[in-house]
Amino acid sequence: MNFEVESKLLIVDDLPENLLALEALIRAPGRVVYRAASAEAALALLLEHEFALAIVDVQMPGMNGFELAELMRGTERTRHIPIIFVSAAGRELNYAFQGYESGAVDFLHKPLDPHAVVSKVNVFVDLYQHRKALRHEMESLAAAHRKQEELVQQLQHTQQELERAVRMRDDFMSMVSHELRTPLNTLYLEAQLRQLHLSKGNLANFSPERLPAMIERDQRQIRNMVRLIDDMLDVTRMRRDALSIQTKPVDLAVLARAVVESLRQQAEAAGTVITLEAPAALHGVWDEFRIEQVLTNLLTNALRYGGGKPVQMVVQQIGDTAQVAVRDQGIGIAPQDQARIFEQFERTADSHKHAAGLGLGLYITRKIVSLHGGRIGVESAPGEGSRFVVDLPMHASDTGGDTGPSDAAGAHAQP
Ligand SMILES: Nc1ncnc2c1ncn2[C@@H]1O[C@H](COP(=O)(O)OP(=O)(O)OP(=O)(O)O)[C@@H](O)[C@H]1O
Ligand SMILES: [Mg+2]
Repeated sequence: MNFEVESKLLIVDDLPENLLALEALIRAPGRVVYRAASAEAALALLLEHEFALAIVDVQMPGMNGFELAELMRGTERTRHIPIIFVSAAGRELNYAFQGYESGAVDFLHKPLDPHAVVSKVNVFVDLYQHRKALRHEMESLAAAHRKQEELVQQLQHTQQELERAVRMRDDFMSMVSHELRTPLNTLYLEAQLRQLHLSKGNLANFSPERLPAMIERDQRQIRNMVRLIDDMLDVTRMRRDALSIQTKPVDLAVLARAVVESLRQQAEAAGTVITLEAPAALHGVWDEFRIEQVLTNLLTNALRYGGGKPVQMVVQQIGDTAQVAVRDQGIGIAPQDQARIFEQFERTADSHKHAAGLGLGLYITRKIVSLHGGRIGVESAPGEGSRFVVDLPMHASDTGGDTGPSDAAGAHAQP
């Protein structure tokens, strides 16, 4: 065993010359010998140190050796220390002290036989060393075992995370394909139809009155696809912390009116009316393109999940904060979902029945709002609609991020 500990030995005798003689006999490298001239002094040392062995003179004035042993037996800390009694009396005393439970007991007789002393002490010290080493190994083993269990748990956790990430990626890919397919299919069918009309010489379908609507339909599908791809790009930038805002003076009231107007057709299609309550003007400093994205995301959600009931947007200044609230009377959001819907790809179980979506809108929205130094929150109850509230400081400052020209508003220009 390569584990070595120092062994402390206690010798107890009222005669100093006996103590000295005994110490000379048992001294050895790796041992420290403590001397006590009385049972009381021995007790004090016993409480302070962990001994491999105590060699105790039986006849001592005051407390004798057996009484000391009794006391040692009664204390958890000292109960297991082996004792060698040293006695001048006849050998019948050998068994005078019985029942020293788990601790080993042995006897030496005066005059001391040096060889017997040394060999007895060696046996006990060896035993102590072995026990110590064993305990040390058991502890190391237990620690290694604990460490291993921790590692296994960490591994399991990582595996779960990985599985979740893979699942999320797969879901994401299928959602993206699905979402891109819908407008692409529509465009494709339109193109086929037009080809058919052309081949049949059916030119009435391309008359000047019909062309604008045709182009508008195409543009809508293309806009949907561009929005989807922009969202995905935004999320990638956010993951790299590379999304930034570029602020300039903006009239939020004008912007809100424009966004509501741009969604009018979509609202009609959903059988919904959007009302806007806003002051004539609300000047602040923000990233106009990004704030437009926020308003559009909130209103689009209200249309999607608003159950065809009226949607209301309120824009107002409260102190030095601009507040935008979007209220719908639709499916609502359960309390346990109200935090997670702001995370990427998170959607409620209900939402799938109402609309396809990637679960990115609110994630992007929250990021944009916080880049402006603002906050977004939701109040909602299932079946009772939702109210999303955005608070923006009147004057947001530009944020960093490794934005190249690709992050300039031009990169997001809508077709
Ligand atoms: N006004 C709302 N009423 C009820 N549920 C909502 C509302 N707005 C958002 N949610 C819930 O939060 C989820 C996340 O919204 P988010 O806008 O992030 O994604 P999405 O609308 O599903 O997809 P997209 O990425 O196209 O926006 C939605 O799927 C829906 O479950
Ligand atoms: Mg959305």
